[in-house]
Amino acid sequence: MLAHELTYLQGQLESWRRRQDGWGGPIFRGRRAPTEHDLTLMSNDYLCLARYPDVVRAQVKVLVERGNGALMSGVYSADCDPHHALEERLAAFLSAPAVMLCQSGWAANVGLLQAVVRPGDPVYVDELAHASLWAGAAAAQARVRPFAHNDLDHLERAIGASGPGLIAFDTLYSVTGDLCPLVDLVGLAQRTGCDLVADESHTLGVLGFEGAGLVPSLQLTDQVAYRTASLAKAFAGRAGLVACSAEVAGYLPYHSLGAVFSSTLLPQDVAGLAATLDVITRADDRRKRLAHNAQVLRDGLTALGYNVRPSESQIIPLQPGTEPAVRLLQEALDREGVFGAAFIPPAVPARRCVQRLSVHSELTDADLSRVLTACAAVREEADLKSWKSTRRLGTAL
Ligand SMILES: Cc1ncc(COP(=O)(O)O)c(C=O)c1O
Repeated sequence: MLAHELTYLQGQLESWRRRQDGWGGPIFRGRRAPTEHDLTLMSNDYLCLARYPDVVRAQVKVLVERGNGALMSGVYSADCDPHHALEERLAAFLSAPAVMLCQSGWAANVGLLQAVVRPGDPVYVDELAHASLWAGAAAAQARVRPFAHNDLDHLERAIGASGPGLIAFDTLYSVTGDLCPLVDLVGLAQRTGCDLVADESHTLGVLGFEGAGLVPSLQLTDQVAYRTASLAKAFAGRAGLVACSAEVAGYLPYHSLGAVFSSTLLPQDVAGLAATLDVITRADDRRKRLAHNAQVLRDGLTALGYNVRPSESQIIPLQPGTEPAVRLLQEALDREGVFGAAFIPPAVPARRCVQRLSVHSELTDADLSRVLTACAAVREEADLKSWKSTRRLGTAL
């Protein structure tokens, strides 16, 4: 068993033991809810479209006209127009041959892997890839081969040992905020005869021309066999997608268990996403402001002595390391009115707990100053000097 596989399993086991001890819960339960006077940096609504008037109007109109729709598996609505029209529009947006809509990003990843991987085939998974990619590989009964985060030498050695298979990774990592080395991944996949599954959940709407994501922005759409995404991030909806060849898109709806055995999207989900697509393609101003806000916050936090590496995006990790230390930081920041999201096992290994700040495009300069003032104020209480992540910076605080 590889060291990383072992670390992952140990993390799962430890998290299970902690749940038995009542750990974890206090971080989420009993926490004061943020009010309008607080700053909420927990959401994945990076472009602030969840309440966009055109989107809400489109949803309300369809809800009034069609109610909650047919309420059945998608296999019975093969010719449902708005659903397939949206799939075609998304395929054009992503420069993909075809797109299949799913009920969620989780359903997209699990359904894809379960349907296209045969039992025993190797699936190489970045150790920080989203849990749904791991769950998909497990559902497929694949030979799961984890590789160290963004470490292509490690990946190449693993492929050398186990043979060609599927390489699964996120294009932007949801805890650390760093990008995958996509050009190198494509090169490695071509040299070794592997296929790629790129989860674009955190890059869709945010990066690339009209927000089409990292893969099109590097003109690598033909080299990445499968792209998946949650549409519950910048698309601010409740769905997911798989972008793939027309052949696979024709096969998935009848072989992905989630597509067959779980009810399809509601009409207002589809209408909302169609309206959001119109907004996203024209949202360069929001994307620019998002990138600016993220840069200001990363720079400001670094100047305060926080190690936010390797983030290069709107996802900014404060890295106390242990769960009690995250709890201390969260309590202190909550009191200052800055609400982040705790990542503890099983989302991360036990010693790599994080308080994540997710930036959005409507944060003003005053909001950003307020976040930095709060982070400056809590440094002592949160015992920043004791954090391993900060000591790695070698900063004298
Ligand atoms: C990278 C990534 N993939 C997939 C998902 C799952 O998406 P959903 O919430 O739509 O099921 C998430 C959500 O946390 C994610 O961050």
